[in-house]
Amino acid sequence: MDWGMKNRLARIFNPKSGKTVMLAVDHGYFQGPTTGLKKPRETIMPLLPYCDSLFVTRGILRNCISPNTNTPIFLRVSGGPSVLGELSNEDITTSMKEALRLNAVGVGLSIFVGEKNEDRTISNLGRVVNEAEEYGMPVLAITAVGKEMARDARYLGLASRIAAEMGAHMVKTYYCEEDFEKVVEGCLVPIVIAGGKKIPEKDALQMAFNAISKGAAGVDMGRNIFQSESPVAMIQAIRAVVHENYNADEAFKLFNELKEKTIISSVVE
Ligand code: R5P
Repeated sequence: MDWGMKNRLARIFNPKSGKTVMLAVDHGYFQGPTTGLKKPRETIMPLLPYCDSLFVTRGILRNCISPNTNTPIFLRVSGGPSVLGELSNEDITTSMKEALRLNAVGVGLSIFVGEKNEDRTISNLGRVVNEAEEYGMPVLAITAVGKEMARDARYLGLASRIAAEMGAHMVKTYYCEEDFEKVVEGCLVPIVIAGGKKIPEKDALQMAFNAISKGAAGVDMGRNIFQSESPVAMIQAIRAVVHENYNADEAFKLFNELKEKTIISSVVE
């Protein structure tokens, strides 16, 4: 591995814990103005100091994020269909040159294993890895789960392993209660979990704790942070789970304390 690749990975994963909290705000690339991201700048800016990297499209980056930020940028480079179409019909939408121009620490794209266009999306991953390695750019493969797919260890393990075999440097997948450790074991490269649909804060913290306990290298979480009743408190509670070994009860207590503080400071202002 050459210096550029090592340096980018060192900026993604916290050197002390070896883990990462990525904030996913790319949902609009197929969902349009998602709840919580209707005004992206207002949602994202207060959260930026607390994430290890921001997972984002170039459109949000250019229009809503100050170039003065020190937060590493992880760029989504696949897309195509909208939520109204065939979701697996993705292709590469953002070039490696663009990722370098935007000073990204990594690029991410979806693969749709078992879906209509699984072959094209898996080939996309192979091609992006070929190009990314020329420039020392880590690639995150996202195992997108289509409408019909079960989110069990068998499916997630299959999709994650294929991503690793194609050369992905990291994999984003979903957490499953049963045998998640087998998904991690079979993957060969670090796994981060997506949060999925909004659930109560305590449950999301429990899910993050379970995933970390079973070997995940972090989270790339969106809705369970930015749709929280207190996003700034929630991202700090997630950080405590990922980087400081808090269990779900401790992290939920921290969430409530930080939420109170946010309410008090907004009243004082
Ligand atoms: C899909 O829209 C994206 O890849 C998201 O970045 C991913 O699903 C993580 O976001 P969430 O935690 O909201 O599922």
